[in-house]
Amino acid sequence: MKSLTKLAATAMHGQRVVMLTAYDAMFAGYASKAGVDILLVGDSLGMVIQGHTDTLRVTVEQMAYHTACVARGNVDSVILGDMPFGSYQASPEDAMRAAATLMQAGAHAVKLEGGATMAPTIRFLVERGVPVVGHIGMTPQSVHAFGGFRVQGRTDAAIEQLKNDLTAITDAGASMVVLECVPAAVGTLLGQTSTIPVIGIGAGLDVHGQVMVLHDILGWTAKPPKFTRNFAAWTDTAQEAIAAYVDAVRGATFPAENEWYA
Ligand code: KIV
Repeated sequence: MKSLTKLAATAMHGQRVVMLTAYDAMFAGYASKAGVDILLVGDSLGMVIQGHTDTLRVTVEQMAYHTACVARGNVDSVILGDMPFGSYQASPEDAMRAAATLMQAGAHAVKLEGGATMAPTIRFLVERGVPVVGHIGMTPQSVHAFGGFRVQGRTDAAIEQLKNDLTAITDAGASMVVLECVPAAVGTLLGQTSTIPVIGIGAGLDVHGQVMVLHDILGWTAKPPKFTRNFAAWTDTAQEAIAAYVDAVRGATFPAENEWYA
């Protein structure tokens, strides 16, 4: 069984981390057998499974259900449970209850969105035995505050904030951080200075790994984001497409320049 701690250590020595969303047992099995390091039971399921236009309606109970499905299909990947909107922002105690539900369903670690503001909550969870992955940049649960799913980190002030967020999350004990939708130069800046692995999604190549939404890499998304690639376009099966994604992340051939933001 892979562990988040070991993956974090090897990532800091150059082995790229491959993360992919999974929501059910069958695809969890395919992805784990293809070598995906971390199966993210993402709250993106609110969009790709439930058909909503954002992730805000997903509940802890729904996340626990999908986490249990993924756990049944998993072979040896780390299962990362996404903390849904409203389950962790109000208090560290709320966060602990939600994290416990996800871990009892089969998650090995949890991910939560937010920077310095969430650092005390991350510390609270880590001190109580919950491994945490942070998530900064374009955090989808803040879509209404951002005025849409927009690239973040475009001004000096925003870059400074991202640097502060990363430091705060790191000091609080997060094992890794997901960095979403920022210009590639910002990805490089954070990737090269971070002391924990930075896992990019729309953050360029100079980070410690990539995370993608399963439906995007299988070519099932009607309007795919710029930063993804349809790995099923030249493969015959979903398993082969996932394996091609794994190879491309490990071999640093994904993303390419047309798949990141300038
Ligand atoms: O929910 C999710 O799938 C995510 C990824 C987009 C990183 O958080």
